[in-house]
Amino acid sequence: MVLGFRNSRSKERFPLFCQVFLLRAEQELSTNMELLPVFLTLAILAGSSPGMAYVLDMNIDYVKQMMVEYEPVVQNHVSNIKAVPLNSLAVRQFHENVLKAESLAAADPIPGVAEKLGLTELVKLVIKAGLKDTLESAGPFTVFGPTNDAFSNLPEWVKEQISNVTVLGAVLKFHVLPGKVDSKSLSNELQVATVEGTQLRINLYTKDTKTVATAQCAPIDLSRVDQAASNGVLHVLDAVMIPPAGNIVSTLAAVPTFRTLVKAVQVAGLVETLSGSGPFTLFAPTDSAFAKLPPGLLEKLLQNPPELAKVLKYHVVSGTFCSAGLSSGNVKTVDGREISIKVSADGVVVNESKVVYADGSVTNGVVHVIDTVLLPPDYILP
Ligand SMILES: *[C@@H]1O[C@H](CO)[C@@H](O)[C@H](O)[C@H]1NC(C)=O
Ligand SMILES: *[C@@H]1O[C@H](CO)[C@@H](O)[C@H](O)[C@H]1NC(C)=O
Repeated sequence: MVLGFRNSRSKERFPLFCQVFLLRAEQELSTNMELLPVFLTLAILAGSSPGMAYVLDMNIDYVKQMMVEYEPVVQNHVSNIKAVPLNSLAVRQFHENVLKAESLAAADPIPGVAEKLGLTELVKLVIKAGLKDTLESAGPFTVFGPTNDAFSNLPEWVKEQISNVTVLGAVLKFHVLPGKVDSKSLSNELQVATVEGTQLRINLYTKDTKTVATAQCAPIDLSRVDQAASNGVLHVLDAVMIPPAGNIVSTLAAVPTFRTLVKAVQVAGLVETLSGSGPFTLFAPTDSAFAKLPPGLLEKLLQNPPELAKVLKYHVVSGTFCSAGLSSGNVKTVDGREISIKVSADGVVVNESKVVYADGSVTNGVVHVIDTVLLPPDYILP
């Protein structure tokens, strides 16, 4: 009879306390039937609440039948119980796990949790993309859920693009991870696979003594992470993530406003490095930025690959520095020299160059676009 406690579910999910119990049940009940009342008491607990049954992993119908059969034994045993102090670690652990299991059993699936958190635009778009059924299925899933403001802050052309349900579906799936990833397991530069197929990158920063966390540079609302759903967990996001199209080089090569930079990267022999796993932060000068250089300088640099490489490396920082994690101060570049970063309400300025577009999404770091090439003042070729 007691072997009925065992079923197909994995014992590893049990709190340590229950694992010990089950282990002892297996070893001892065959020889020591005196332990039976203890297990029956556990069975009463399991029958008393769905959350407890969940923790003990017991089949309620079976428990009820067992209790009818063994009622005299149970009553005798219950009247003899000496209560353990409530502050005992095991009792507390037991209690906490029951509460957790009960709140989990009571929780909605992810779309319901999103709705309750006020992420109504996300829910609307999930329905439009035909993903509601999936996100209500067993999962489990982890969803980075953008706020309504995050969606309304999107530029008009992005809104237009995601009016196409195929594109919308891909963008939304980029916000979903298979499996349950709680905020405790997020770490700096962690890359996680999304349901869309592309990995996203997590970054953690300390800014003014506070922790800032981002997912593909979109700020995570740390006051609203780990929102429990019956089929996973939701973390609120303050921006919409756009799946990266490729690495730094392949992405910039596809954008017509970075022709000079891409050519310079090729001439300087940096294609392999900047296409590699990195991660890197690139301050990327546009074609107009290169056009502002003193006459003839770019041509001379293109004829001097080692010097050109030094100039380009002065635009690269090792690691992913999303704008949400940037604070004012000096940062060492891959070239070895430092650049100064100034963050203000007006935006980000790197030495004398203004960041005109921040947080460009790539697979191996991040790209911030700047309006002026970074060169020492009165630069002359050595
Ligand atoms: C939607 O986007 C997909 C993928 O880019 C494209 O194949 C399809 O033609 C688009 N549909 C419409 C109606 O524009
Ligand atoms: C950029 O800022 C750094 C750090 O303040 C400084 O050492 C460097 O000379 C500046 N470079 C240019 C080109 O102004």
